[in-house]
Amino acid sequence: MNLSLDKKTLDKSFNYIISPEISEFRRFTPKLKIGVLASGKGTNFQELINLSKKRELDIDIKVLITNKDDAGCIRRAESVQIPYKIIRGKDFSQKELFELEIINTLNKFDVELIVMAGWMKIVTPFFINKFKNKIINIHPSLLPAYKGGTAINDSILNGSKITGCSVHFVEEEVDSGSLIMQAALSIRDDDDIESLSKRIQILEHKILPQSISHAGFLIRSNFMENY
Ligand code: GAR
Repeated sequence: MNLSLDKKTLDKSFNYIISPEISEFRRFTPKLKIGVLASGKGTNFQELINLSKKRELDIDIKVLITNKDDAGCIRRAESVQIPYKIIRGKDFSQKELFELEIINTLNKFDVELIVMAGWMKIVTPFFINKFKNKIINIHPSLLPAYKGGTAINDSILNGSKITGCSVHFVEEEVDSGSLIMQAALSIRDDDDIESLSKRIQILEHKILPQSISHAGFLIRSNFMENY
C-alpha cells in the first residue's frame, strides 16, 4: 500500500460512511471555550487548531494538557501560542491528586467542553463527575467494538472487515458513553496498523470537529435554560 499518498488523494481513494451525516458547524458567540487532553502526535488537535484559525469552527482552545513530555501535540500548541501544561501521572502519589491537578487547570481556564483527543489515561469517576456531560472522547473503533488502547490492532488481528472511529460522551465505564458520531470504513486484506490508522485518522479529523459542534450546542442550550 502506498503510504506516500497525500491526505486529499487518500481521502478520495476509499469509501466510508459517517453517521449522523456531516452538517454545517453550529455558530458560537462567544466562541466555545475548550480544553484539550492529548497524549500523542496531536493530529486531531492540529485539525481543531486549523479549523479555528480558518474561523470555520467557533472554538477558543484555552489550554492543552498532556501527560507525556515528548508528545507531538506540545509543539503544535507552542507554534500557535496555545497555553499547555504537562501533568505527569508519575509525579503524584495518588491518581486522584493527578486528576485534581488536571481539574484545577481546566477550571483555571474556565473551559466549557473538554475534548480527549488521543488521551491515553483512563479517567476515574472523580474526574468525570466534576465535568458531567462536558467531556467527549475520540476512539479508533466502531464502539462498542474494540474498546481499550489497542483498538486498531485488535480489529486487524480479529479479522474484522469493517471498523472506524467513534466520538462519545465520557461516562464512568471506559469507552462506553453515549455516542455522538461514528465513521465506518472497510479493512483491506493488505492493511497493517499503519495503513489502517492513516485512513481512520482521516475520518477522525472529520467527526471530531462535528462532534464538538454538536456537544457545544447541547452544552450552550442547557446553559441558556438555566440562565
Ligand atoms: C487517535 O487515533 C485516537 O482515536 C486515539 O489516539 C489517536 C491520537 O492521534 N485514541 C485512543 O486510542 C483512545 N483510547 P493524534 O494524537 O494524532 O490525534
